[in-house]
Amino acid sequence: MGFGINNRLSRIIKPKTGKTVMLAVDHGYFQGPTTGLRDLKKTVTPLIPHTDCLFITRGMVRNCIDPRSDVSVCLRVSGGPSILGELSNEDITTSLEEAIRLNAAGVGMSIFVGAPNEDRTIANLGRLVSEAERYGMPVLAVTAIGREMARDARYLSLACRIAAEIGARFVKTYYCEDFYKVVEGCPVPIVMAGGKKIPEMDALQMTANAIKEGASGVDMGRNIFQSDNPVGMIKAIRAIVHKGATVDEAFEIYSKK
Ligand code: 5RP
Repeated sequence: MGFGINNRLSRIIKPKTGKTVMLAVDHGYFQGPTTGLRDLKKTVTPLIPHTDCLFITRGMVRNCIDPRSDVSVCLRVSGGPSILGELSNEDITTSLEEAIRLNAAGVGMSIFVGAPNEDRTIANLGRLVSEAERYGMPVLAVTAIGREMARDARYLSLACRIAAEIGARFVKTYYCEDFYKVVEGCPVPIVMAGGKKIPEMDALQMTANAIKEGASGVDMGRNIFQSDNPVGMIKAIRAIVHKGATVDEAFEIYSKK
C-alpha cells in the first residue's frame, strides 16, 4: 500500500536502521550566505557520501549538487521573509511539479506555532500535504520557533502534534529536556534539528540523548558544517544514529582528521 510515498520515505529514513542522517543546508533561504555555506558546493560535496538526505532549496540543488550523486533530497519549499522581516510570514515557494522534476524524496516547510502567522503557516501545511499526497510525496513539517517561545517539551509537543494532525509524514524539531514526551505525543517520526553551533562533544551528547529518547535521526546543519572537522562530525553523528555508538566513541571518530 502506498508504494510511492513509502519508497520515497525509505530514501530518507533508512529501513535497515529506521533512522536518518539528514544534512540541513537550507539556511540561505532566509539567512543568505550563512557561515559555512558561503560556497555551498564546496562545503557539501565532501559530506554527501555520509549523508542520507539533503534538506535544501531548489536553487541550491540546481546549482550546487552533482545530479550523479546518489544522495536523496528533501526540498525546502517554504520561504518569503528574510532575517530582516517577520519570519513567520512564510508561504509555499516551490511547486510539487518542481519537486518531482528534481526527483525529491520529500518536501519540507516550516510551521510557526505561537508566532504572528501561525494560522497561515499551519493552513499552508494542510494545503501542501493535500497536494503532495496526491503524488506520493512525503511532507516534512519543521517546527520553527517564534522568537519569544520557550523550547520546552510542552511547547514542542504542541507544535509536533499539530504538524502530525495536519498530515506531515515526519517532523523536525529541536531537542529539549524530557524530549521523550515530545516523541510520545507525535505518531510520526521526529528528526532532531541541531540549532546553533555548540561544542562538538555537546552536539554528540544531544544527538545520543535524542536517539535514546526516540528520535528517528537528525536533520542537522550548523553543528556539522560549522565544525572544524565537518566530515569527522557527520561520521560521528552517523555512528550514533545508525550504529548506536557511545558519545565517547563518536567523539573519537570526530577527532580523527
Ligand atoms: C530552519 C531550518 C534549518 O534547516 C535548520 O534549523 C537547520 O539546522 P540547524 O539548526 O541544525 O543548523 O529548518 O528553519
